[in-house]
Amino acid sequence: MIIDGKQIAKKLRISIADQVATLDRKPGLAVILVGDDPASAVYVRNKDNACKEVGFYAEKINKSADITQTELLSEVERLNKDDKIDGILVQLPLPSHLDANQVIEAINPNKDVDGFHSENIGKLMQNKAYLRPCTPKGVMTMLATTGIDLVGKDCIVVGASNIVGRPMAMELLNARATVTICNSKTQDLPAKLKQADVVVAAVGIPKMIQGDWIKEGAVVIDVGINRLDDGSLAGDVDFDSAQQKAAWITPVPGGVGPMTIATLLENTLTAYKAREEK
Ligand code: GUN
Repeated sequence: MIIDGKQIAKKLRISIADQVATLDRKPGLAVILVGDDPASAVYVRNKDNACKEVGFYAEKINKSADITQTELLSEVERLNKDDKIDGILVQLPLPSHLDANQVIEAINPNKDVDGFHSENIGKLMQNKAYLRPCTPKGVMTMLATTGIDLVGKDCIVVGASNIVGRPMAMELLNARATVTICNSKTQDLPAKLKQADVVVAAVGIPKMIQGDWIKEGAVVIDVGINRLDDGSLAGDVDFDSAQQKAAWITPVPGGVGPMTIATLLENTLTAYKAREEK
């Protein structure tokens, strides 16, 4: 069966919009885009549109690719102090002359709706999570809709990035699964995947994971979004062959992608509520 991320994300956005309609002040999200990478520009536009759709206050801030580290840090500082803003997101990757880690650490952890600040990552590791990285959290929401009990299940995350692989593994561990983190260099990945009840692919290599690597009845979550030479999009999983084996599988596009954005809205609402309660 297909896990319809588009549909699950839509439900989540409707529930958020319903909550926003009851609030005196609009939750505010600021998204900073540095430079003009076309893929990043599309993501930022989608985030901005999603904010408007649910009734948030949204600030889309475009900075030129030659902005200095100091200028970018003072922009973050300005947003930290801005009472209209509950969430701050700096779209990654940043141009190579900028230190992304220092920028992330400059964001007030209570406004870090990406969940990338070391304080939020630390809380996730302690299973006391507050603001959790959007893509892995969105995957957990998708897994919940299947009704599958993750306790004790063998889960493999392929990819170990700070944005997806590492926090994804921690989410699954927090759900009391048995978690293995692999990467593109893992020895005999097919044999390892063959044991997995749940596979999360976040390695960034189009169609790398083949159907005959998948255990019969497994759940396959494809986080990859790769642009092929013909302009079409492909995940990290070879969907056609994997679909023959999996009990549940996510498509690309229309799988994890919409969930990341809906979860960003969810995190912004969480950050808003926490600030209002103070
Ligand atoms: N680039 C790719 N994914 C993400 C994300 O979830 N957040 C940010 N800030 N940048 C990204």
